[in-house]
Amino acid sequence: MHRCLSFLLLSAVFLQLGAMGPAVQVPLTAGQWKTEISRDWDVLGPFPIHAREQHFLSPSFPINLSEPIDYSQSWSSSLADGGSVGWSTARATEEGHLAVSFPQVRWATIRATEGWAALQHHSVLRTTLTVSPPQSAETFGHDAEGPKLVARLQQGSFFTILPALNSNETRPTPEWHYGNIYAMGGDPPQTVTLPVSPSRTEATVYDIFVSGDYEIRLFGDPSAYESDVPVLSIDFSLEVHPPDEIIHVRSQDVSCDFVDGVPFGNTLGIGVHSTSGWWILEHVEALSPADILKVSLLRNIRFAPAQTRTIPLRLTHTRPFYGEKVQIAMKFSSEYHTMTIEVDLPIQQRPVWTNETFQPLKASYLYMDSMPTAFLAIPPKETNVGEPRPPILGLHGAGLDIFDQPLWAESIPRQKTSWIILPTGRTSWGLDWHGPSTQDAWQSVDALSSILKETAAWHAWKLQDNTRVVVVGHSNGGQGAWYVSSRYPDRVVAVVPASGYIKSQAYVPLTQSRSAHFIDPALRAILETSLTPDDNDLFLSNLADTPVLAVHGGLDDNVPVWHSREYISVLKTWNPDANASLKEDPGMPHWYPSVLANEDVQAFLDRAISAIPSPKLNSYALTVAIPAESGSYHGWRIESLLSPGRLARLAVTEHETSIEVRTTNVGIFTIDRHRLHARRLVVDGMSLPLPADKGGNVRIAVNKSPQRSIVASDSARSSIQPSGRMSIALSSRGPFLLVIPDATSGRPLSVATRLAHALNLYHKLDAEIITDDEMMDRAERDTIDAVNLVVIGDVSMDFIKWYMGRRDTPFAIENGSLRLQGRPFIQGSRGAIFLQPNPSHPNSNVVFLLANDDEGLERAARLFPIRTGVTVPDWLVIGTLADSRGAAGLHGAGLWDQHWKWNEGMSWLD
Ligand SMILES: *[C@@H]1O[C@H](CO)[C@@H](O)[C@H](O)[C@H]1NC(C)=O
Ligand SMILES: *[C@@H]1O[C@H](CO)[C@@H](O)[C@H](O)[C@H]1NC(C)=O
Ligand SMILES: *[C@@H]1O[C@H](CO)[C@@H](O)[C@H](O)[C@H]1NC(C)=O
Ligand SMILES: *[C@@H]1O[C@H](CO)[C@@H](O)[C@H](O)[C@H]1NC(C)=O
Ligand SMILES: *[C@@H]1O[C@H](CO)[C@@H](O)[C@H](O)[C@H]1NC(C)=O
Repeated sequence: MHRCLSFLLLSAVFLQLGAMGPAVQVPLTAGQWKTEISRDWDVLGPFPIHAREQHFLSPSFPINLSEPIDYSQSWSSSLADGGSVGWSTARATEEGHLAVSFPQVRWATIRATEGWAALQHHSVLRTTLTVSPPQSAETFGHDAEGPKLVARLQQGSFFTILPALNSNETRPTPEWHYGNIYAMGGDPPQTVTLPVSPSRTEATVYDIFVSGDYEIRLFGDPSAYESDVPVLSIDFSLEVHPPDEIIHVRSQDVSCDFVDGVPFGNTLGIGVHSTSGWWILEHVEALSPADILKVSLLRNIRFAPAQTRTIPLRLTHTRPFYGEKVQIAMKFSSEYHTMTIEVDLPIQQRPVWTNETFQPLKASYLYMDSMPTAFLAIPPKETNVGEPRPPILGLHGAGLDIFDQPLWAESIPRQKTSWIILPTGRTSWGLDWHGPSTQDAWQSVDALSSILKETAAWHAWKLQDNTRVVVVGHSNGGQGAWYVSSRYPDRVVAVVPASGYIKSQAYVPLTQSRSAHFIDPALRAILETSLTPDDNDLFLSNLADTPVLAVHGGLDDNVPVWHSREYISVLKTWNPDANASLKEDPGMPHWYPSVLANEDVQAFLDRAISAIPSPKLNSYALTVAIPAESGSYHGWRIESLLSPGRLARLAVTEHETSIEVRTTNVGIFTIDRHRLHARRLVVDGMSLPLPADKGGNVRIAVNKSPQRSIVASDSARSSIQPSGRMSIALSSRGPFLLVIPDATSGRPLSVATRLAHALNLYHKLDAEIITDDEMMDRAERDTIDAVNLVVIGDVSMDFIKWYMGRRDTPFAIENGSLRLQGRPFIQGSRGAIFLQPNPSHPNSNVVFLLANDDEGLERAARLFPIRTGVTVPDWLVIGTLADSRGAAGLHGAGLWDQHWKWNEGMSWLD
């Protein structure tokens, strides 16, 4: 029976952060291809899922897009009365805004027992795209495949364009493109290629499918618009690009303010997009003011078709410059021709700050020495007297653009003696202040330190080298403040986390998970180890003696106040005398201007910033999940785990003449020799003879097999384990290298292009796409960069054979097929994603994304953990069953051991 659901259309934009114009202006002329998206959408849903489950399920769940769709069919859904739902329709506005809701569902009843988890749901949205050819044939150019389309999907998770299905045909495997699910501003253009060329004589019709996923964190609680009914609110549009062009994309530019004519940073970035074709940047120069400013290209840059990159330029000046813009010329070449683009980069001139006047300054630096990045800095009122005081590191809330929205820079009052540093965390969402967002925060601190050192006039405001900081944050940034301070306790003087949640599963529970109804709990446990590193409560032992002032509005309806209460409770369990307190502001909501700007917070900051050190514990515990994403505590650092995936802990008790350490799941740890103060070191009951003092750290290796041994040595080299979960790969030490079979390799190139787009969109991370041949050339000449590689394709690639030929990896090629533990693992439409070390740089890594066919590759590619909460450990194998059962349909998942080898205890095979 066809159930008729009616849909609520809301033209008002609620909870939409930063409505934006098109990313690129493209003149449309009569001689061009035309596209038209039908305003009438078919909608199927709602289906219960948990956040991020759409990365495992098919985005078109429950529909199999290879088969014709029966619009009268109904599907099971526990959200609907009677337990089933069918197709209905919704109509978009002329601008392409689509609001979808299911008012028949008794949401209030379900959420009364299930809470926010009940509102999370998935739906499939479909409409048609009509592509009409130009009137005259000469405008086809040499672009044989038809028009290049720039698509924009805001607040949808994935979309695909497919040929309209005639009943006797089968459709190609969908290419699922990432949507801009957070509706982040400054999104790079997303070029999509039509799956089959349109007719040159008549209109061609395609289907567009969108995975519509309602997430509380994105859309908020419907009570905000006085309703029980959650409304999915998305925007979709397409534009035609001129063929074979390389264009400037202003939204991707990076610049810095000039203070009294001096650049407040060392880098500029220029956003460039290749609509089609491979392009190489040959030359860059500053045209004006050529006598004052020089820009130099950091490295050669290549653009794959449809790729957007920000060109990294090092900026130097010979004398102060007071102009309004820098004019830069760039010369590109492709197979067909060369092009020169001249761009103006507007410069914001600022007067020098004084004790009475100031403006937040936009600074720039090279993230990972390679990617132009900006941040804000608010100067203190007074110059340094004696030792520079620790700066305040302020972490913003989700969706907040710190440059466009002054709210954040205004929320922490200017300090007397401390700089306030406001990093972006890569983008307005970043990785929730984990991974690259954390790196960006620390590197922004280091960058400000360098900027102040470089100009004599600013020396009186310098920061201390490797300065410690006071971390402050609100909302997602409050959560980030807990995260950053508990993972890097030795770099933090004090913390003011406001309105922060504990972890994603505590914020919106995963209880309405689809896969949960099918999954082996042992597999679920392995998958959930990838959430452990983000579980802030598990790491509070590391904050036991750091002063904490948590702030929370008593009536917060976004992040409920119990989160902060629980944080303090857990901290006090570790240390009943912890200098940790909660300032609960009765009756206050999630955000209020005085959340950080008030006397109590200021008094706390003043005390933390002044030189009075807090008393430190003699007995404490360091808890670590991912060594590569954790710093030291009291000088102790865990470098590797015996079994990745499990928590590791060092419990330390300092006595007068000895230090006792108990280890849990620790492989290697180090201690600063000076912290030992010539005391005896006793590890797991064994008194350790120490190596002669050569001034470095002491390195202690714990072995459990073949027999237990504990050995201390000099820590000449660091051996930080770069494994533990897939998302560790996001912290590449330079632009990712995405390796594909060859420059015309359809699906792998398409996957690489989409991944490059997602890395840019979600994290402003740069990537270069290179071929198997080029990679082999680098491998043979031993010139592989110390960055993370993503190898996309199948086992016939030479680089994979070379890699597996020289390393004994658990995944191995035998008789031309990929095997794991002797079993042929990649067969049918399976895909595998697994982590291994970079062959030349053990602290970097390689992600292998391998499959035998397009379907398998698509499935594996959707698991690349672009967003937080996608549970991918060190390796996974996924197949067709996952389309309908999510993670329960996996064929295997697990973590490697300390040495990248098979780890029986942390592996699951079907
Ligand atoms: C499908 O049917 C149409 C019309 O009957 C026909 O023109 C076309 O060749 C068929 N396609 C295939 C793949 O059989
Ligand atoms: C700011 O500095 C100037 C000169 O150094 C001084 O005269 C003035 O009193 C200061 N203002 C404040 C508010 O401290
Ligand atoms: C708690 O921390 C604050 C801020 O650093 C400090 O001023 C205060 O003395 C500490 N209180 C105790 C009891 O240690
Ligand atoms: C590989 O192929 C050879 C020859 O066909 C066969 O003898 C051998 O058993 C195969 N090995 C595996 C692991 O399947
Ligand atoms: C989807 O349908 C096609 C064609 O009927 C079939 O071959 C394929 O196995 C189906 N996929 C899944 C995941 O069921």
